Amino acid sequence: MPHLSLISGSTRAQSSNTCALRTIAALAPDGLTTSLFDGLADLPAFTPDADPERPHPAVAALRADLAAADLVVFSTPEYAGTLPGSLKNLLDWTVGTADLYEKPVAWTNVAAPGRGGGADETMELVLGYVSAEIVDRPRVPVAREAIDADGIVTDEPFRDEMRAFLDRIATRLSR
Ligand SMILES: Cc1cc2nc3c(=O)[nH]c(=O)nc-3n(C[C@H](O)[C@H](O)[C@H](O)COP(=O)(O)O)c2cc1C
Repeated sequence: MPHLSLISGSTRAQSSNTCALRTIAALAPDGLTTSLFDGLADLPAFTPDADPERPHPAVAALRADLAAADLVVFSTPEYAGTLPGSLKNLLDWTVGTADLYEKPVAWTNVAAPGRGGGADETMELVLGYVSAEIVDRPRVPVAREAIDADGIVTDEPFRDEMRAFLDRIATRLSR
């Protein structure tokens, strides 16, 4: 069964991006499995000196997560006009070992209208650089009031957009 890895670019406990991904997991149809990657903050700062044969445990966990994924869905805030450093660090860890090479990827942008464009631009640049296959990039704002106590987005228009997004992903992965 096709598997989606969901990776948030935010380490914030009440992150709207993480909540969006949790909602995607909850809405996933029967034919898709999902997992929410929780190791972003555990990754050491990338260094080209690291031995790929003897990875840090957090790097090994990232590699295993990506290897198990048929498609990776990111959702990230914009920090200072670009990606949060922690997500760029995660992506840097994939360069030398080509974990995202030709891997289908998508990302959601849940920022308010007119915000978050710098994160989109950097995602496109970096995911292009690592030769990932960008298949979708829905932009659907999530207001903090639309997130319930369990960290699920309750806004129906958002949920409808994510159901349609998941249908497109399922179709893409059935090819
Ligand atoms: C350090 C920092 C830098 C930020 N820089 C930007 C920015 O450049 N552009 C922007 O639209 N929002 C910026 N924001 C706002 C966040 O993108 C926004 O709060 C977002 O909802 C956080 O995502 P999260 O809820 O998933 O943690 C910044 C927030 C922080 C903490």
